[in-house]
Amino acid sequence: MIEVKDLCFIRNDGDNKQNILNKLNLFVPAAQHLALLGDSGSGKTTFLHILAGLLQADSGSVSVNNQELSSLNERELALYRRKIGLIFQHYQLLDCLTVKQNILFQYKLNFPGQAASEFAPLVEELGLQNKLNALPHQLSGGEQQRVGIARALLNKPQIIFADEPTGNLDQKRSHQVVKLLTELCSERQINLVMVTHSHQLTDYFDQVKVLRDGHFE
Ligand SMILES: Nc1ncnc2c1ncn2[C@@H]1O[C@H](COP(=O)(O)OP(=O)(O)O)[C@@H](O)[C@H]1O
Ligand SMILES: [Mg+2]
Repeated sequence: MIEVKDLCFIRNDGDNKQNILNKLNLFVPAAQHLALLGDSGSGKTTFLHILAGLLQADSGSVSVNNQELSSLNERELALYRRKIGLIFQHYQLLDCLTVKQNILFQYKLNFPGQAASEFAPLVEELGLQNKLNALPHQLSGGEQQRVGIARALLNKPQIIFADEPTGNLDQKRSHQVVKLLTELCSERQINLVMVTHSHQLTDYFDQVKVLRDGHFE
């Protein structure tokens, strides 16, 4: 569950104060999926980073699963970030690690010594079972993003934030990846917030918001 109230994010642009996010309000019930649209520069990534605890708002409140982010200290924020999954436009895979090693890397840091019981079923659902020993550069864009999704889901996140995960994919692959991502999140009751440029991908989502001039339209 995500609840945002009167969220403001202000930056100084030379002498001007720029209200990048201006009194945003949002409610995403548990397990629901939100698509966030808006022109380039409209503040989508900034908003996602605030929700993910990577950036601090200037005013207003952000509550995730009844935890008010601004009240968390550094240690609590680090614990919070462990419970979220991040998916990026440029995949952010480690070039010199195999697919299997990439998927397991963060899990091993988060859960040292614990067997990753979800690894095999996830790899199968994402159709990566024949690619486990490949290096990222040997994969197509769609395959690389499926590795990014497996890596995020393996950590059993409560929420996934995805920033233009289909930005580098053609239309067909974009639909495949978003369909898979929303299905996997539904099965696991995970809240999903996905930034996208494409109005054609919004059918997969419970809620759609468009950012413009710091507001939701
Ligand atoms: N830390 C910052 N300092 C100054 N300006 C920023 C900062 N972060 C973002 N911006 C500005 O905020 C606006 C929104 O950026 P961003 O969130 O990346 O947009 P989007 O993801 O929608 O393309 C842009 O004009 C950007 O230059
Ligand atoms: Mg962005």
